[in-house]
This record gives sequence, structure tokens and C-alpha cells, in this order.
Amino acid sequence: MAPVITTVDDLHKIYRRRVPKMFYDYCQSGSWTEQTFNENESDFSKIRLRQRVAVDMEGRSTATTMVGREVSMPVALAPVGLTGMQHADGEILAARAAEDFGVPFTLSTMSICSIEDVAKRTSKPFWFQLYVMRDEDFVDRLIERARDAGCDALVLTLDLQILGQRHKDLKNGLSAPPKLTPATIANLMTKVGWGLEMAQTPRRFFGNIVGHAKGVKDASSLSSWTAEQFDPRLDWSKIARIKEKWGGKLILKGILDAEDARMALKVGADAIIVSNHGGRQLDGALSSIRMLPEIMDAVGGETEVHIDGGIRTGQDVLKAVALGARGTYIGRAFIYGLGAMGQKGVTKTLEVIHKELDTTMALCGEKNIHDVGPHITLVPKGFAGEWETPARNG
Ligand SMILES: Cc1cc2nc3c(=O)[nH]c(=O)nc-3n(C[C@H](O)[C@H](O)[C@H](O)COP(=O)(O)O)c2cc1C
Repeated sequence: MAPVITTVDDLHKIYRRRVPKMFYDYCQSGSWTEQTFNENESDFSKIRLRQRVAVDMEGRSTATTMVGREVSMPVALAPVGLTGMQHADGEILAARAAEDFGVPFTLSTMSICSIEDVAKRTSKPFWFQLYVMRDEDFVDRLIERARDAGCDALVLTLDLQILGQRHKDLKNGLSAPPKLTPATIANLMTKVGWGLEMAQTPRRFFGNIVGHAKGVKDASSLSSWTAEQFDPRLDWSKIARIKEKWGGKLILKGILDAEDARMALKVGADAIIVSNHGGRQLDGALSSIRMLPEIMDAVGGETEVHIDGGIRTGQDVLKAVALGARGTYIGRAFIYGLGAMGQKGVTKTLEVIHKELDTTMALCGEKNIHDVGPHITLVPKGFAGEWETPARNG
């Protein structure tokens, strides 16, 4: 009998059984001690909700817009590298699920399916996430390819100039496709469904890069290329150059500090994403939801503020919206669905989150997502202001 799936966690359990350990660990880890990764999730549970009664609940709506795009709920799929290793053709399947549900899909620079491939196999525009590489020509070509493919927003990631260390990836020898060591072979033999689907697709390499970037013809040269190519010199002037080159809607991802949020406003971002890369970069940074109120105070009236990190339920989405976010992104939550059941699993993730969002909104006494605000929450004193930067000595 097929399992009854009622939560994203149910999908997580199936995903864990189905996908090779190397890719499960790649998804399910944060950097170093994983403190920030864990707190992204646990800090949501510190926010409580106000139960309200005797309010007419009929005709509810979670529909809104994110950077001008109509969405059925304030949720987008976050850019996730190697999605096509979690399930064969993963990016295409996730993009299709997102478009059917009426939410944006963001394609990572480090995707397995290429920009052109995803565009050809979907019918609505998706968003493209850009990593800035040292090779400026390559960056410019990626921007042009995204524009030619009809992408209607560029998500520029700012928090990965150098890679945060995730112990498990080093121990597992993460690569795409997986290198066949005795340990990998032993594990792959237990992942028959995954392997059979993967054997039927030609998409097993980094599709945006192999054949497009100079000197990268196969995956074996790719890992060293990536380490060498991410641009550690990325600064606000380079961001301004990219904004000009792109010319369309620009979303700056990886803002976790009010000062950086003000800088993002200065360069003319259409939206910022309050994010710590899902706890995969600076371990010890505060969770995204904890930083949201301060960043809202700094720039909330002047640009759209989006958030990601630790969102696993529709309640988490509602709490983020209540504290001011115009939109949210899910990373791992959709990967669990994809790895568990392909396109159907991503749809299931979105359905579960939508139902939780809609029901919770109603039980808080609101029927339109635009009316949701801090008044529906109970937040512990000091939630946002418990931590401060000490004054400099001397
Ligand atoms: C496996 C994995 C791969 C990721 N790859 C990228 C990427 O290629 N580009 C990017 O900007 N962010 C990447 N991220 C970060 C996500 O876009 C997002 O910020 C994060 O997943 C949000 O946290 P959540 O997973 O708790 O929802 C990745 C996250 C995960 C889990």
C-alpha cells in the first residue's frame, strides 16, 4: 500500500532511503558544526501564533506577487546545485511541478540540466541563479543565455565567494557523476530505482558549464575548475556591473546583515533574500528568521524582502510573512519531495505547504495573505535583539 504522505518529513524519510548517501549527505548538511543549519529550522518553532475565533473564513487567498510575478502562494523553489543527481532530470521535473503550482523555480548555475534544456521542457519563465566566476566572459555568456531562455529574474548569490566546509562531502568524495569507489559501489547497489532512472538520462554532468566554459570538457576537471573559478573578489562594484549587464529584475541572495541590506538597496536590487545559504557557509551566523526583523527595519519599506533557510512547513512560511517577508524559498523541502517521488514529490511538497499555510492563516483569523502581519504572532522578548555586536575596544 502506498504510504499516506501528510508532511514534508514523510517525504524526507522516503528520500533518505532512495537516494545515494553521497547526495543525501550533500543536501542534509551544513558547514562545520551545523549550528546555523540546525537553528534555521529550530528558531521557527520559537515563534508562536495567536489563535483567533469567530472570523468569517470563506474565500481565503494565499495569492500574491514576488518581484511583480503572480504566485499562488509566497513560496519559490530555491536554487539547488546538483538537483539532477537527486533524481534523474531533477531540474526539469522540479521546474514543471513549480509551474503547474504557480510558483517560481530558480535554476542554479551548478545545475545538471542546462538553462536551455529546462527552457525547452517547460512553458513558463523560470529564474536563473548566478554564481560570479573569475572568468568574466563566461559570466556574461551565462547572463545572455538566461536572457535568451526567457528567464524573468536573475538571482545573484553573494554568500559563496569561497566554499564553507561541509565535512561529509569531503569524506564522501562528492562528485557528479559519483566516482566509483568500493564504498560508493556498495551504496549504489542498494539504490536500484535511482540507478535505473539515472541510467536512462544523458544529463549527468554540470549542464551549464561542461562544453561552455573554457577547458572544461568532462566532469573530472570540473571540481578543480569550480574551486579555482568562484570569484573571491566579488564586491559591490561587480554587482553593479552585473545588474547593468542583465538589465532585468535582480534579486540579491545571501544578505544577513542590515548594513549589507542597505548596500543592496543602493545598487538597486529589486529584492533581497535574507539567507545564510541554508547554514552551508558561515557556521555561527544567526538563523535567517532571527535576522529578518532587523533587516525589515533597515530596508523593508524600500525593497522586497524575501527569506530562505529552515522552511519545512506552511506554518514557517506564514511566520516569515508575518514578520515582513514578501516571499519565501524552499531548498531542502523540495529536494526531499524530488528525491522521494520525482515531479509528483515536488508537487506533494507544495501541496502540503500550501495546505498548512492556508489552514494556519485561517485559524489565526486571516483570510488574505496580504493582511498577515506581526499581529498574528507571539514572539519571545529579545527574539530579534538578543544578540548585539559589542562596541570596539579603545
Ligand atoms: C544541496 C543544496 C545545494 C545548494 N546549491 C545552491 C546553489 O547552487 N546556489 C545557491 O544560490 N544556493 C544554493 N543552495 C542554498 C539554497 O538556495 C537555499 O539558500 C537554502 O537551501 C535554504 O535553506 P533550506 O534548504 O533550509 O530551505 C543550496 C542548498 C542546498 C541544500
